Amino acid sequence: MSILELRHLSYDYVTKAGKVHALKEATAFFEKDKVYAIVGRSGSGKSTLMSLMAGLDVPKDGEIFYHGESLRHLDCDKFRREHIGMIFQSYYLLPQLTALENVELSLELAKYKGNKRKRAEEMLILVGIKKEQFKKRSTQFSGGEQQRIAVARAIATDPEIILADEPTGNLDNENSMNVVNILVDLAHKYGKCVIIITHAVEVAEKADVILKMDDGVLRRNMKFSE
Ligand SMILES: Nc1ncnc2c1ncn2[C@@H]1O[C@H](COP(=O)(O)OP(=O)(O)OP(=O)(O)O)[C@@H](O)[C@H]1O
Ligand SMILES: [Mg+2]
Repeated sequence: MSILELRHLSYDYVTKAGKVHALKEATAFFEKDKVYAIVGRSGSGKSTLMSLMAGLDVPKDGEIFYHGESLRHLDCDKFRREHIGMIFQSYYLLPQLTALENVELSLELAKYKGNKRKRAEEMLILVGIKKEQFKKRSTQFSGGEQQRIAVARAIATDPEIILADEPTGNLDNENSMNVVNILVDLAHKYGKCVIIITHAVEVAEKADVILKMDDGVLRRNMKFSE
């Protein structure tokens, strides 16, 4: 069974100029162990879709199922806290905190039961941050390193689904591939469902499945014939 299923999602923004139909019956399903890329031109509805998948907002029409259960029947904040890890283009690390503290804070907020310090250290090691750098402030890292710390923070609570909105948008090619390779490993080695919104062809090419958002409509382009 798929982890996440989107059925006929529609979403409108109401503005002074009128309604913007950001999503029009978007339908898709997502499974564990797989990397999905969502591509599509600017304004096509990708970030809107991501906020619905994260339970940050609810669709106007249609439904999202997590392991077959409708999000309408779940506590969305709890769902996001426990099962979703989010990564954004501009990292959003807290500048006054160290790398370690940034990851520990997310564990704190998620009421992580185990040893937070140990878990945070393991996550930073996993994304390639060296131990001697743990206590450096997040602003003292390069962009690529900051994004890897953001990945460590997103996966610290062991969520099943990783949602990344343009995670390589601010990175050069080498750093982009570093981050994407970590995301691919999370799916292929650690069994996560990884969904990456991207404009970069080389990032999309690393995905198992490419979905194209076209003016609020989602189309599935299988990379490998099924
Ligand atoms: N808060 C908002 N209020 C009104 N309209 C919005 C809002 N956010 C997005 N939109 C509109 O909804 C549509 C979809 O926007 P969305 O941000 O989902 O696109 P996107 O595919 O993520 O674009 P990009 O690649 O530029 O990030 C666009 O027409 C956009 O202008
Ligand atoms: Mg966007």
